[in-house]
Amino acid sequence: MERLRLILRFVLVALVAAIVGCAEQEGPPPSANVSRSPFGTTESGDSVDVFTMVNANGLEVRATNYGGIILSLRVPDREGNFDDVVLGYDDLAAYEADSPYFGAIVGRYGNRIANGRFTLDGTTYELAINNGPNHLHGGVKGFDKVVWEAESFDTHDGVSVVFSYTSADGEEGYPGTLAARVTYMLTDRDELVVDYLGTTDKATPVNLTQHTYFNLAGDGRRDVLDHELTLNAQHYTPVDETLIPTGAIAPVAGTPFDFTASTAVGARIGRDDEQLRAGGGYDHNFVLDRGDDSGLILAARVVEPTTGRVLEVHTTEPGLQFYSGNFLDGTITGKSGRVYERRYGFCLETQHFPDSPNQAAFPSTTLRPGEEYRSRTVFVFGVDR
Ligand code: GLA
Repeated sequence: MERLRLILRFVLVALVAAIVGCAEQEGPPPSANVSRSPFGTTESGDSVDVFTMVNANGLEVRATNYGGIILSLRVPDREGNFDDVVLGYDDLAAYEADSPYFGAIVGRYGNRIANGRFTLDGTTYELAINNGPNHLHGGVKGFDKVVWEAESFDTHDGVSVVFSYTSADGEEGYPGTLAARVTYMLTDRDELVVDYLGTTDKATPVNLTQHTYFNLAGDGRRDVLDHELTLNAQHYTPVDETLIPTGAIAPVAGTPFDFTASTAVGARIGRDDEQLRAGGGYDHNFVLDRGDDSGLILAARVVEPTTGRVLEVHTTEPGLQFYSGNFLDGTITGKSGRVYERRYGFCLETQHFPDSPNQAAFPSTTLRPGEEYRSRTVFVFGVDR
């Protein structure tokens, strides 16, 4: 009898272990999860949500379907202390009122199109002029200011949120109905994977990017000039005084734009250099050294020396806009009452080159019916010990 009971107990324990094992294989690790809660109501009456993704190591990304904005991103330093490393606001109204694209998805066209005009297949299109004489970041109401459909998923690869938006033919002056889908996935390898997908019913330029402002020392603490930056780029695209590329693909060697070896952001930012003057600092597109590789390559690595936090950016894109937060000027009060002074954040915007619709020699940004626009950028977080 006693023996039978023992055998039964053994069978039971084995069964439970098998069921638990299966469950583990099906879903994400127990602590990784994504949850949805209300974030607020837009001025036009749409309610939007906040999605909180947490991975098995405790990293946390909060994003809203208003503009696909990444609201906060908490990662550990070398002592294991978590802090929010992105700039932004506490509430929806502040984002709607005035935001320099904090954390947002930018589209249809990231960065500038000269004079808001381009010709495609013989037709000239006029876009909004919203930045000096030029068109910037998709226009007056770009993808950063629209409400996206949203769904969240727990998968084996990570926890994710999928944002979808259909931009109507003619929206902001662009041709064609563009169906866009952007996925944020947080993995247990401490990666934030951003996948972009687009299809259209008429030829149109498409150049989507992510406009998060990082400060690896912690949001709103101090400027980013001590951050050490490496860029995988031996060339960049110099600009005119309105930040439109001249068309040149210039070598960075011997200039303040040479980040091929790790260099503090602030080491040369104050130099008397025509290009730094044009940007008020760094606000330039770097041409990534990808050779024939059309896949994911390392574009940038940033180390914050005091906390040891490290950010790597990998991308399938040909370019990277390095913006050193030059237009922040202390007039914005962000999360938790922190005032964002000049250069309190930096952006690494993976992209095709600015003004490509007017630059035949740059990689094309034209998406045609029947084609798929696909782009991937991976932000990897770690520490340097
Ligand atoms: C991009 C541009 C900058 C600036 C910011 C938003 O990074 O290149 O010039 O417009 O967006 O303020």
